[in-house]
Amino acid sequence: MVDASNLGAFNDRLFHMRLERSRDDLFGMLERLYGHRPDYPGVVEELTEALEAAWEARPEDLKWRDMSRDLEPDWFQRPGMNGYVFYIDRFAGNLAGVVEKLDYLQDLGITYVHFMPCLKPRPGDSDGGYSVMDYTEINPALGTMDEFETVTRACHERGISVCIDLVLNHTAKEHEWARKAWEGDEAFRDFYLMFVDDTLPKAYESTLIEIFPANAPGNFTRYDEINRWVWTTFNEHQWDLNWSNPRVFIEMTKAMLFLANKGVDVLRFDAPAFLWKRMGTRCQSEPEVHILLHALRAASRIAAPGVIHLEEAIVGPAEMLPYLGRGEHDGKEGNLAYHNSLMVQFWSALAARDTRLMTHVMRTHFPTSVTNATYATYIRCHDDIGWAVTDEDAKAVGVSGFGHRAFLSDFYEGSFPGSFSRGALFQVNEETGDKRISGSTASLAGLEAALETGDAEGIDRAIDRILMGHALIASHGGIPLVYMGDELALLNDHSYVEVPEHAHDSRWIHRPMMDWTRAARLPDGGGTPEGRVFDGIRHILARRAAVTGFHGAVPTEIVDTGQDGLYAFVRQAPTGPIICVFNFTEHWSGLPVSWFTALGATQMHDHLSNAPVMGPEGGVPLPPYARVWVG
Ligand code: GLC
Repeated sequence: MVDASNLGAFNDRLFHMRLERSRDDLFGMLERLYGHRPDYPGVVEELTEALEAAWEARPEDLKWRDMSRDLEPDWFQRPGMNGYVFYIDRFAGNLAGVVEKLDYLQDLGITYVHFMPCLKPRPGDSDGGYSVMDYTEINPALGTMDEFETVTRACHERGISVCIDLVLNHTAKEHEWARKAWEGDEAFRDFYLMFVDDTLPKAYESTLIEIFPANAPGNFTRYDEINRWVWTTFNEHQWDLNWSNPRVFIEMTKAMLFLANKGVDVLRFDAPAFLWKRMGTRCQSEPEVHILLHALRAASRIAAPGVIHLEEAIVGPAEMLPYLGRGEHDGKEGNLAYHNSLMVQFWSALAARDTRLMTHVMRTHFPTSVTNATYATYIRCHDDIGWAVTDEDAKAVGVSGFGHRAFLSDFYEGSFPGSFSRGALFQVNEETGDKRISGSTASLAGLEAALETGDAEGIDRAIDRILMGHALIASHGGIPLVYMGDELALLNDHSYVEVPEHAHDSRWIHRPMMDWTRAARLPDGGGTPEGRVFDGIRHILARRAAVTGFHGAVPTEIVDTGQDGLYAFVRQAPTGPIICVFNFTEHWSGLPVSWFTALGATQMHDHLSNAPVMGPEGGVPLPPYARVWVG
């Protein structure tokens, strides 16, 4: 027992130990960005005070949670981590409703939940909540901060960690800082990127790309009322923050620690690539971004050490890895980052029935392991799919980058002859020819089309594709994220066009309401597509949790099978290799046992089906869309 009279002294001492542990990581980084400024000593002082205040305000139970995570710092890399991502209103109405759904999530095998944006958004269109007007309040439509704390505690009691979004790149133009800037307060104008004329915006624009070209063209917005141009990368109502101003760093750190003290375990940093602007570049993933993220990580380690960071950098493979910490940031930046390439390559190989590009990309760009970090793996999320395949990678396997990207868009939109997919186009860019894709997992995987025609074989194939995708993300290395509704094979929801704030944004086609009627029928719905998908995903997550070799720190080595339709990798676990193979085609295939034994398999046991894997001929048969985890 800690003597209560000494608790204060104990906490102080602990704080100072934590501060010393990460002092260089925090101030060493900040000095490089802000050290030249005359106000820098004041910045250091104010930040230190903010950290101290946050630690002081941190509830005792969370300090114990910090301790337990100090004792098992790999908690997020363990194979038992299985994620589920949802909009609170669409999943359970509101925060109070979430508590009632925890049995469902536990039954599915979930130990990590991502509540999609739940802080107070601007009124009207808020980009799905990513246009935040107050970082310290919960969206009133969902509940209160007290209720949020109750829900996180209920999750913790069941061994479920909670992730929420922290939008770093921009605030809503209705945020208090933006209001003050609008009113002419110079200190707050410096929180944003404002220009009196269009000289600089034009100069920047010449090398920037457009994120939402169809409905929010350009990266700047002109406001006659204040006679200013404002940097608005995403939508007009999302004003980019000026991170070269240390006050922005201080205020966002306070917001981050405030949320950490409400029980959040994982902070998902939204759109971090855009934090630093540099003339003549795309203003994405500049070196200063990594300095900032390294410093933010250190701030959490000091005042909320049980909290980790998930970075949402949806960029090409080579650009993405640094978000997990490379070079001087190794082990000190994001603990998690979205494995966007795995998602893109999954759909790409599925359409092409050819895994050569996938194998090339995974082998060339991704190290076999990363320090103190792992990936968030997924096949679908709330966003569109952008075909992030570089011309260079495509060329390396003998295809045209432009041609392949165009093929993928046509295929998943459903217009390519013979396509099994039913998707929707998102943000067609006439200038670059870029066409992104929206659509639910089940619709993209062929279930919608097969159900339309009552094609029984098509239904089987679609279910197999969905399950193969989940078996892939459950074994590749990282926390697999199941996107709400995918476990019930929910199809595209076309009703979004009737909602005025959503109609312009086809991403809402794959942001359906949870179908609880369908979920309630599951126990007797074993034979239905949704029953088969639910049982299959639950089985995959349970088997993943049982395989210690799927720990996030275990290296993933991509291997060749000699067959274009198969994708394979070995998890080089200390307890023996696990050889994972996936058949991306609707044709039968197989591999000789000798291929597996040469890679170190000893038991020829499939950890996924939990059964021996040998076929009658002494080979391993791989039916259409087969997935095996052989040890
Ligand atoms: C992220 C979100 C996306 C949002 C954007 C702007 O990419 O995932 O939904 O539109 O950031 O906040």
